Amino acid sequence: MPSKVKDTLRLSNDKCDDVVTLTNVSFAYGGNQVLEDVSLSVEKGDFVVILGPNGSAKSTLLKVMLGLLVPQAGEVRIFGQKPRKFTAWHRIGYVSQQAANINTSFPATVQEVVASGYYTGFGRLFGGGRKKAAVKEALEAVKISDLSNRLIGQLSGGQRQKVFLARALVRNPEVLFLDEPTTGIDTASQQEFYHLISNFHKERMTVVMVTHDVTSALKMATKAVYMLDGKMTLYKNMGNLLNSFTSKILEQGGKAGVYN
Ligand SMILES: Nc1ncnc2c1ncn2[C@@H]1O[C@H](COP(=O)(O)OP(=O)(O)OP(=O)(O)O)[C@@H](O)[C@H]1O
Ligand SMILES: [Mg+2]
Repeated sequence: MPSKVKDTLRLSNDKCDDVVTLTNVSFAYGGNQVLEDVSLSVEKGDFVVILGPNGSAKSTLLKVMLGLLVPQAGEVRIFGQKPRKFTAWHRIGYVSQQAANINTSFPATVQEVVASGYYTGFGRLFGGGRKKAAVKEALEAVKISDLSNRLIGQLSGGQRQKVFLARALVRNPEVLFLDEPTTGIDTASQQEFYHLISNFHKERMTVVMVTHDVTSALKMATKAVYMLDGKMTLYKNMGNLLNSFTSKILEQGGKAGVYN
């Protein structure tokens, strides 16, 4: 391909504001359909919060967005590309719901766990030379530099969550996917964690976060997604939504649709 054409393509990709788009996506585990005709667009600078009861396919939705699960119907685009063609995985950081279940007797230090963010099956390995500096930066970003030589098993739950956040940040991603990152930690640590994430968002990072903490999440969200029975309700414009959202949707169950 002539280099001029390549440059034009690259430019148009870089300018593209879509981080992830799902169009009419349906997903089933075997015969069990858990996502039904879901469409969603995550744009640069968004803070998307995904809410819904246990088993409502929030984690599944995230995995589909990340190309980790392939839907039976519909289309997924990551930075404009099909997941199987996408290679720039360093642009994406992901803290899975399972991160909290790590075997804490494993004798790894905090900096080793953070450094392992280079070597996950999720995305490609990249240059070893910058690794040390990147680990240091990631630890500083989440304010746990003082813990770098501690064993992971010797940390509190809240500190451990920050280690996994640092691990997701180690490749300096543009977008962060977090699946219930504050489960099992106290309110003060949760607020501290949200404060960190909120600052990353203000510094132009795009965030997609699954949580059960409606109140805190909606303070930060640019879009909220409520999952129920495989269907998605999208809320834009968070303005005065909080009260009606909690009472109308969480107590009575939601209807699919778009609320602007
Ligand atoms: N690997 C799997 N194989 C078969 N079924 C699965 C698998 N993973 C999840 N499911 C089912 O799919 C549905 C959605 O699960 P998912 O984990 O996405 O829900 P969730 O909203 O993230 O729940 P939670 O709030 O408990 O984390 C559930 O009914 C679950 O049992
Ligand atoms: Mg889940």
